[in-house]
Amino acid sequence: MTVARACGVSELEQDAPLKVELEGHPICIVKDSAGEVFAIGDTCTHGNISLSEGFVEDDTVECWAHGSRFSLRTGQPLNLPAYEPVPVYAVTIDGDDVLIDPTVTVPTSEKEN
Ligand code: FES
Repeated sequence: MTVARACGVSELEQDAPLKVELEGHPICIVKDSAGEVFAIGDTCTHGNISLSEGFVEDDTVECWAHGSRFSLRTGQPLNLPAYEPVPVYAVTIDGDDVLIDPTVTVPTSEKEN
């Protein structure tokens, strides 16, 4: 378990994804309109596109290339052409620090809200 500081909460703009790299894992961090912080794998499973360059709507991020939207909660694509999920990472907020363990993804049973 290697929990690391990914960024500061104060660095995150609402609905504006931030790409970070932790231990070689590209991660897309999003603070949604409700102020909740999510962390998912940054690479779209349809192509080598950074999801942090995409568009956030509610609790999804849309890949700009071909329009697949991924759930920030489950990592699942909600529409084609992507059909494989991206990993979801547990986020811990400690003061202003966004802490993530990039080596551990959230099991499916814990992803459902
Ligand atoms: S590369 Fe993301 S939907 Fe095609």
